[in-house]
Amino acid sequence: MDAKLLSDQIRDEYVGMIAEAPSLTELDSLRVTVLGKKGRVSQLLAKLRDLSPEERQAAGGVFNKLKEELNQAIEARFSTLDAEQLAAKLSGESIDITATVRPEGLGTIHPVTQVLDEVTEIFAGMGFAVAEGPDIETEYNNFTALNIPADHPARQMHDTFYLPEREDGSRLLLRTHTSPAQVRTMSQASPPHRIIVPGRTYRHDYDLTHTPMFHQVEGLVVDKDIHMGHLKGCLIDFARTFFEIDNLPLRFRPSYFPFTEPSAEVDIGCSVEGGVRTIGEGADWMEILGCGMVNPRVLSNCGLDPHEWQGFAFGVGIDRIAMLKYGIRDLRGFFDSDLQWLRNYGFSALDLPTLGQGLSR
Ligand code: DAH
Repeated sequence: MDAKLLSDQIRDEYVGMIAEAPSLTELDSLRVTVLGKKGRVSQLLAKLRDLSPEERQAAGGVFNKLKEELNQAIEARFSTLDAEQLAAKLSGESIDITATVRPEGLGTIHPVTQVLDEVTEIFAGMGFAVAEGPDIETEYNNFTALNIPADHPARQMHDTFYLPEREDGSRLLLRTHTSPAQVRTMSQASPPHRIIVPGRTYRHDYDLTHTPMFHQVEGLVVDKDIHMGHLKGCLIDFARTFFEIDNLPLRFRPSYFPFTEPSAEVDIGCSVEGGVRTIGEGADWMEILGCGMVNPRVLSNCGLDPHEWQGFAFGVGIDRIAMLKYGIRDLRGFFDSDLQWLRNYGFSALDLPTLGQGLSR
C-alpha cells in the first residue's frame, strides 16, 4: 500500500473544497465526509490493521499528518465563515442613528407636567430634594397633626372626599393638600429637612378655577435658626425665576393657616387690561401661594422640639400658576384630554426646562 499516494489523493480532493465551502452547514458535512467515524480518513486508518508493524508505523504517521492538515483547514474555514455570518447578522440589525427625530410624532408635554418640571428645577437648584406622599391619607396626617382639630372650620372648608368609615371609626380620605407630606417627613427622619413635595390633591369643587383633582407643590425647610427672612428670600427667588421676570413685584400679605405661625400669602404684581392679565408691574395683585413659619405645635406633633428646630413651609397651586404663566383661562381644560387643547397649550417633548438654558422656550 502506498500510504503517501492515498493520503495525497484525499488531500488534493478535499483541501480545496474545504477552503471554498460556501456555508457552515456545507463545511460541516465535508467534515463528516473526511473526518467522521466512517469518513475517508477513518477508512484509511482501518487499512493499517492489515500491515506489518513497520509499515503500520510509517503509514500511521502519514495518515495522522493528513488528519491534522484537514483538521486545520476545516478550523480555518470555520473561523472565516463564522465571522462572515456574524458580520451579516450585525449589519442586518443596525439602525441609522443619524436619522433626525420627528417631534410631531412625540406628542406634547402637558402644562402641568411642564410647570412641575420647572418648579422642581428651580428648587433643585436651591438644594431641595423631591419627596412624595400618598394620595390617600389619614385624618391625622391631613388635619390633626397639622393643628386642624376635628371641630376646626378649616376641615369643613376643605370639602374633603372621605373613604367609607373603618371598623374602628376612623376614616381615610383623599388628601386635600400636600401638607400632610410635612408630617410624614418630620415624623420619619430627623432634621434638617429641605424638601418639595409635588403631587395630586382633591377637593369637592368644580368651576372655572376649581377641579376635584388638582396639583400642589409643598415646600418644607426645617433646620436651626430658620427665620422669616429665609422664607422670603427663597420664595422671592422662586417667583422671579418661575415667571422669568427679574423685577417681578411681590407682596407678603399676613394670612392664617393653622399649621404656620405667622402665616402669609404671597401676591405677585400684575395688570389687567381688556380682560387680559399681564404678570409684572401694574396696579393689581394676584395671589400665588400660601406660606409661613412651621407652627411649633406641628413640630411637637411630629416629635421635634420647637426650641431646637424651626422651619418654614409653603404650598403652591401648580395648575393655578400654570394658568397664570401660560395664560390659560379655564382650569377644566387641563383634564379633558382634548387633543386640540393639548397641541395648543402643550410643550415640546424635546425641550426640558433647565435653569441654564431657560425654563420655557
Ligand atoms: N395647605 C394649604 C392649602 O392647601 C397651602 C399652604 C399654606 C401650605 C401655607 C403650606 C403653608 O405649607 O405654609 O391651602
